Amino acid sequence: MNDFKPGLEGVVAVETEIAEPDREGGALRYRGIDIEELVGHYPYEAVWGLLVDDDLGSKMPDPEPFEPAALTGNAPADLQAETARLAGEWKLGKLNEISDEQAREDLGRLSAQMMEIVARSAAKADGREPAPDDVVAQGETAAERFLLRWRGEADPRHVTAIDTYWICTAEHGLNASTFTARVATSTGADAGAAMSAAIGTLSGPLHGGAPAHVIPMIDEVAEAQDAEKYVDDLLSRGDRIMGFGHRVYRAEDPRARLLSRTADELGSSRVESARALESAALSALQERHPERVLATNVEYWAAIVLDVADIPAKLTPAMFACARVAGWSAHILEQKRVARLIRPSARYTGPGPRSLSDVG
Ligand code: COA
Repeated sequence: MNDFKPGLEGVVAVETEIAEPDREGGALRYRGIDIEELVGHYPYEAVWGLLVDDDLGSKMPDPEPFEPAALTGNAPADLQAETARLAGEWKLGKLNEISDEQAREDLGRLSAQMMEIVARSAAKADGREPAPDDVVAQGETAAERFLLRWRGEADPRHVTAIDTYWICTAEHGLNASTFTARVATSTGADAGAAMSAAIGTLSGPLHGGAPAHVIPMIDEVAEAQDAEKYVDDLLSRGDRIMGFGHRVYRAEDPRARLLSRTADELGSSRVESARALESAALSALQERHPERVLATNVEYWAAIVLDVADIPAKLTPAMFACARVAGWSAHILEQKRVARLIRPSARYTGPGPRSLSDVG
C-alpha cells in the first residue's frame, strides 16, 4: 500500500451534494449558491434551511423552552456535554432506526437549542442571569435572539457581525468535525451523539480554535509596532501563525475575503494592526515556503469580526460550533441516507508475532 496519506489529504471518503470548497479558491458555494449572495440578504437560519433542506424558506426552528442542567461557563465543554445530555432528555431515536423526517426534526430542535446553550453558558461566564423568554422573543433573527439571551440586548452591529460570521462558517465540506459527525452517524448513533462528537473535534486549535489566538497576536503587534519582527521571531521559534494556511485552499480563502470586508464595514478598531500583521505574515510565509500557497484563512478575519461583537477569545470555538450546526445537520442527514458504516483500514506496522516472554 503506497497510497497511505497520514492526514487523508486528497482522499475522497464521501460524495456530497452540500458543499465542497474549490481548491483553487475564489468561491464557496452552499448547494451551488455563492456565500456572497447569502450574506446580508438572508439570515443565518434561512441558510440553515438551504443547507439542510435545499430550501431558503425552510428555516432552523426557534428554540423551544428548555433550561440546561448545570452550566459551568466553559462554553465548548458545556455545549458538548449538554448536547449529549439533551439526546437522552429528549429521548432521541437512533439514526438508523428513525425516518429521515424524524431525523430532520431532531436536528432542527438540537441546532436551535445548541445556540441557546452557548448563549446561556456565555451569560454564566459573565456572572449574569440569561435573559428571560419574553426578552428573547423580541429578537427577529437567530443572531439577535442569541445576543438577547446572553446579554439582554442586541446591538445591530453585533448582530451583523455574528450573522455574517455564522453564514460564512456554516459549512465547509468534509472538514475534521463534519467527518466526525458522519462517522458517528454511520454507526447509527442518535443526532445528539453525532453533534457532540463533532463539537469535541472542533475544539482543537488546528480546526476551530485558531481565532482565540489571533487577537492576542494582533494586540502584541499593535503594541510593538513592528509586525515583521513579530512574525520573524514567531517563525524562528518554530511556531505557526494562527489564521494562515489551509488544508484545502491553495489560494485566498473566500470566507477570509468576505469577513475582512465586513470588519472594514463594521469599523473594527483592530483593522489597521490586523492588516499590518497579515501583510508581514504573508510575505514571511511566502519566503519560507515558496513551494506552497499559505494564505490568510477564515479564522484570521473571523477573529476580528467576532471581536467587533465583543465576543471573548475563549468563546470563539463555541461560536464556530453554533455556525456549524447547519453543516453538521446537513451532513448527518446525508450520511443517514447513505446507510453505510464508515470503517477504514489501518496498515499494521507493529511487531510480528512474538511470545509473552519477549515483552518486558
Ligand atoms: N504558520 C507557519 N507555518 C505554517 C503555517 C502557519 N500558519 N501553516 C503551514 N505552515 C508550514 C508548516 O510548518 C509546514 O512547514 P514544513 O514543511 O517546513 O514543516 C508547511 O507549511 C506545511 O504545513 P502542513 O501542516 O503540512 O499543512 P496542512 O495543509 O496540513 O495544514 C493547517 C493546514 C490549517 C493545519 C496549517 O496551515 C496550520 O496549522 N495553520 C495554523 C492554524 C489555523 O489557522 N487553523 C485554522 C484553519 S481554518
